[in-house]
This record gives sequence, structure tokens and C-alpha cells, in this order.
Amino acid sequence: MIKAIKGTKDLLFDDLLRFRELERVVKETLENFNYSEIRTPVFEETRLFSRSIGEETDIVSKEMYTFTDKGGNSLTLKPEMTASVVRAFIEHSLGKQFPLSKFYYIAPMFRQERPQAGRLRQFHQFGAEALGSKDPRLDAEMIIMAYDILRKLGLKQLQLKINSLGTPEAREKYKKLLRDYLRPRLNELTEESRKRFEKNVLRIFDSKAENDRNIMANAPRLLEYLDGGSLQHFEKVKSILDSANIPYETDTTLVRGLDYYTDTTFEIVSDVIGAQSALCGGGRYDLLAEQLGGAATPGVGFAAGMERILLACEKESIELVNKVPVVLYVARIEKELSEKAYEMALYFRRKGIRTETDYLNRSMKAQLREANKLNAKNVLILGGEEYSRGKVVLKNMETGTQEEYPLDTPETILSALAK
Ligand code: HAM
Repeated sequence: MIKAIKGTKDLLFDDLLRFRELERVVKETLENFNYSEIRTPVFEETRLFSRSIGEETDIVSKEMYTFTDKGGNSLTLKPEMTASVVRAFIEHSLGKQFPLSKFYYIAPMFRQERPQAGRLRQFHQFGAEALGSKDPRLDAEMIIMAYDILRKLGLKQLQLKINSLGTPEAREKYKKLLRDYLRPRLNELTEESRKRFEKNVLRIFDSKAENDRNIMANAPRLLEYLDGGSLQHFEKVKSILDSANIPYETDTTLVRGLDYYTDTTFEIVSDVIGAQSALCGGGRYDLLAEQLGGAATPGVGFAAGMERILLACEKESIELVNKVPVVLYVARIEKELSEKAYEMALYFRRKGIRTETDYLNRSMKAQLREANKLNAKNVLILGGEEYSRGKVVLKNMETGTQEEYPLDTPETILSALAK
């Protein structure tokens, strides 16, 4: 038997309805903030991601689905959207038309990680990116939008962590200090952290090993070495969050797994979904557009993992499903009337009524059972003595009342269905 690839998922029935409800809340919220949707291709040139996310990151060095196509080009299924949005922004010279460009997306992403709860190989993100302004109100806006969506869904167990990574210059100076602090303790660190020492020393803060964590607990913090501009920016973001009633905690160890960040970074975590607890993450990336060959354009954004959010909803017993009821089931008594029933169903479907009928040659009893199972509000019955008089019977399943209508004027039934 051929099965779906490990770490990918089919979405069916109630799971799909939950997904769609989440999408609805996302679109409603982000469109209220006047973000426009952007859709980009599923694959891009590999170097787009290696250049923006960073060669030394886990995503680029271990997790990308990279392949060579028949033309010899190295292509990669997108592991995230920020790089693609910035690529599109540069390619279409959007900055000229829109000095501030605000986009949102809902799309599948691909990372070859070890599948586990909350960690998939094809997962979905929604997110937003704003390009063209350094205004700290936009940093706060990203956090507010993400937080509002999670709260609208009903999630309560949320923790917002924020930090600032400052400018590359401040970061370079700090990395030197951090290495000086770690050098005498290098032998005590795990192998993974020792590897990160040269290439990506900040990520040692992400180590889960207890001894690493103890060592890092006393390490100097980047936040203490930021320049005045970065500190002021960070203070402003925090004061906007205060006035928007968003509780946060400053986490000086929050370094994020992508290299393009400058200044603000944040994550919202849930403590009900296990080890992969980040529901969303984001931050500012003021140098990325230039790095990718565009004009210098500041940017800020976030992305959230939809499967993780739905898992958090499940754990917090939030149902989310909004089943759309079938409005009409067209049943027939005599099997010879099957085609007439199909024709009637087609009429109502084309009038915008959610309608079902029988395709399995079922008995009348079985059709009514099916109508019940579908939660049909009304059943239209074709056949019997009424049909020979040119009538059909409409049964309202909620009140149990039945009414006859002329077979040849189905429009008269429409108003009864609207009730
Ligand atoms: P990220 O932190 O790599 O950031 O991913 C954002 C979210 O995607 C995570 O918090 C998590 O919920 C979800 N996610 C990531 N990997 C997986 C996985 N394997 N399975 C399930 N969910 C996953 C970014 O992608 C940045 N582009 C965010 C950003 C936008 N920064 C600025 N703009």
C-alpha cells in the first residue's frame, strides 16, 4: 500500500473544518490591519534561502528539501516565507509603488526534521511581513496581530517572549565576549554546542542539555551590549505592547533559528503542546532586502505554525468546528424517480442551496437515515400518491411539519428553505 510521506498529513472532515476556521480568523484579523495576501511559488532557487536564512542555521544546513531539476538548477521547497516575500518585493519593485508594503500569507512549508508531535515535514504557516519602515509600531503590530488571532481562537495558555538582537555590529562585539566567557568552559559543553561555538555561538542558548543551560545561565547577555538606538527601539516596542494590553516577558536568551534578524525578535509559546512549544515567531530584518540584492529596505514580520495552534486548541478543549449544515436532502420513493431527484437537486444547488441526494440506490428508509446523519434541515420527497398529483412534499426536519408544493414550480420551495 502506498502511504503518505512520514511527517505529512491528510486533512479530512472535522480536522479540515478546524483548519478552515483558523484560516478564517487569520484572514479576518490580518485584513482588518490592511495586509494584502501574497502567494509565492512552492519552490525557489536554493540560494535564496541559504543567503537569507543563513548557511550555518539548522534549516539550511540540515532541513531543506533541495533537489536538482532536469536543467541542473538547484531548487528548494520553501522552508519559510520571509525570503520569498522579500524576493517578490524586490523583483516587482514594490517599494516604488508602496513605500510601505504589507503582506500576509497562509501556505505550506517544508522542512526535513525528525517528525514528532508539533513537528512535521510539510506544515502550514500563516504570517505577515511589512517592508519599508523602521517604525517600532510595526514590530508591536506583528505581535499584536499574532496574539489577537490566538486569543480570538480562545487560547489562554500563552506566553509571549521578546528580545532584541540589536545591530550586526553590536552582535559581533557581543559574540566575541560570549566566546571569551565560554572558552574556558568549552570542554564541559555538549558536542552540538561545541560545534556551534565557532559557527553560530548564539544558538548555544537554545541547547536543551542541562549542563549547557547552567553554563549559559551565567553568560553575558546581548541585551546589555546593544547600542542606544536599538535600546530605544526596544523600549518603544514594549511600551506599545503595554498600552495594547499584551503581557510579555523579556527573554534575553531568545536568539531564534534564522540569521536575518536585527533588533526585535519574539516568540509566543504554549505550555500545553509539549517540547515543540513555539506557536509563532518573528522579528525585524532590516538588512535582508539589501542582502538579497534590493535597495536597503527595513522589514518586520512573523509566522505561526497552524498545526501547532490546532494542537494547542485541542489541548485547551477548544472545539473550533463550524459545520455547515446540509439545507436540503432530495429523496425519492420509487427508484425510477432517481433522475428526477437528481434534476431537482441540481436546480437547488444552482440556486445556492447546499443540497444532497442519493447516488447509492438506497431505499426510502436509508435515504431518510442519511438525511438525518447529514443533519439536513429539510427533506424533499418525490414519489407516491402526491407525485401522481403533480406535487412534492417538503418536510422540515426541525419542526416535523410537511407541506405540498407543485412539482413544476420549484421556485415556490425556495422561500420555505430560506426560513
Ligand atoms: P520559524 O520560527 O522558523 O520562523 O517558524 C515559525 C513557526 O512555524 C514556528 O513557531 C512553528 O510554530 C512553526 N514551525 C516551524 N517548523 C515547524 C515544523 N517542522 N512543524 C510544524 N510547525 C513548524 C519563520 O519561519 C520566520 N519566517 C518567521 C518570520 C516571519 N520572521 C520574520 N517574518
